Amino acid sequence: MKILVVGAGGREHALAWKLAQSDRIQMVYVAPGNGGTALDVRLKNIDITDPQQLAGFVRQEHIALTVVGPETPLAAGIVNIFREQGLKIFGPTREAAQLESSKDFAKAFMQRHGIPTARYQTFSDSAAAHGFIDEHGAPIVIKADGLAAGKGVVVAMNADEAHAAIDMMLSDNRLGDAGARVVIEEFLEGEEASFIVMVDGKNILPLATSQDHKRLLDHDAGPNTGGMGAYSPAPIITPELHARVMREIIVPTVQGMAKDGIPFTGFLYAGLMIDANGNPRTLEFNCRMGDPETQPIMARLKTDLVGVMEHAVNGTLDTIKLEWDRRTALGVVMAAAGYPDAPRKGDLISGIPDEAADCVTFHAGTSLDNGALKTSGGRVLCVVGLGDSVKMAQKQAYDCVDQIHFDGAQLRRDIGWRALKRHG
Ligand code: AMP
Ligand code: GLY
Repeated sequence: MKILVVGAGGREHALAWKLAQSDRIQMVYVAPGNGGTALDVRLKNIDITDPQQLAGFVRQEHIALTVVGPETPLAAGIVNIFREQGLKIFGPTREAAQLESSKDFAKAFMQRHGIPTARYQTFSDSAAAHGFIDEHGAPIVIKADGLAAGKGVVVAMNADEAHAAIDMMLSDNRLGDAGARVVIEEFLEGEEASFIVMVDGKNILPLATSQDHKRLLDHDAGPNTGGMGAYSPAPIITPELHARVMREIIVPTVQGMAKDGIPFTGFLYAGLMIDANGNPRTLEFNCRMGDPETQPIMARLKTDLVGVMEHAVNGTLDTIKLEWDRRTALGVVMAAAGYPDAPRKGDLISGIPDEAADCVTFHAGTSLDNGALKTSGGRVLCVVGLGDSVKMAQKQAYDCVDQIHFDGAQLRRDIGWRALKRHG
């Protein structure tokens, strides 16, 4: 069987790596892929990104099913295009992807269906938005309505920052159409966790729990990033909390989407804030898997992912159970010099250790240049270590990281600290 994975990041490398482990796989294509997927003999990069052209390629190669990694092609309607042509694809339609591509859509949806989230109001008029800040004060959170590649959320700790964020989005149009409307919401305190499930329109199959680290620097300092590391499982998600998140957030979301006439299919990722009393609220929805959460999650998945994907596209996720490696998997992101503002490209990468039972390196911003592996994006690698405890997984990951070199590499040395605090 042939499968196509759409995307170029570490998440897609991890999905393709796991799919390729199946005995049933003849070839996993990755479009467009990266240096790591190019180096893996079981994977083949395809230099196509246009959804119509990809559909043509899938027909021509008799590819059985397609898995979409990132949000941009989903929001652009790649699932609609494939389905119109009778091609099997796992992801949400353009309409369902609005859970991620429009914060206003997601907030109104949650309010309508009684899903716990921060109180909010939406504005397109800057004077009215400034007035709201004057009235409510800080801390407060300003979010661009549309997709803004991680730059659309400002957690303003004082009123000046909040006013500046409104000027940046609504008056100066620095985020273009994505920032032409803003959601202003209540600041929530607590600990964040990533809650990711697979949905086939009706049935829900939860993946292993995970947590990532958004800030660039140790001790959660520095600017927000796409994620500097992640681990699975996340000890904060106890079995009781897991049941509660399913009951209060995930099930009402999937049922609500179906009731609203836009059934959700694909990975559904609820970004949670868990307060000091253990109450979960939804910070955001993503209509895809997390990056870097996917890397440790895939490193722990024991079930054949090809079979899982078949059930996902056939609407039979209720008939299977997933099996997980009991160990902790912990992924450390190595980012390029200048990330997140202006990542430098072209640095030579050396020393990546061979894959082992307790260490796997997934590529993101890498490319092959005449056989030489070079940096080509912000987050370059995610090095995943596995171990019987968080501490052992962490040690394993950093032992591998310390063998790898590229000039200007940035990484955190404290990935897993919250889990260590709980469990050691
Ligand atoms: P989002 O893309 O909506 O998840 O926001 C990006 C990051 O901003 C989140 O991961 C949180 O760290 C932070 N954030 C978002 N919304 C809130 C909120 N209401 N209160 C506090 N922090 C938030
Ligand atoms: N790691 C956060 C995300 O994928 O959105």
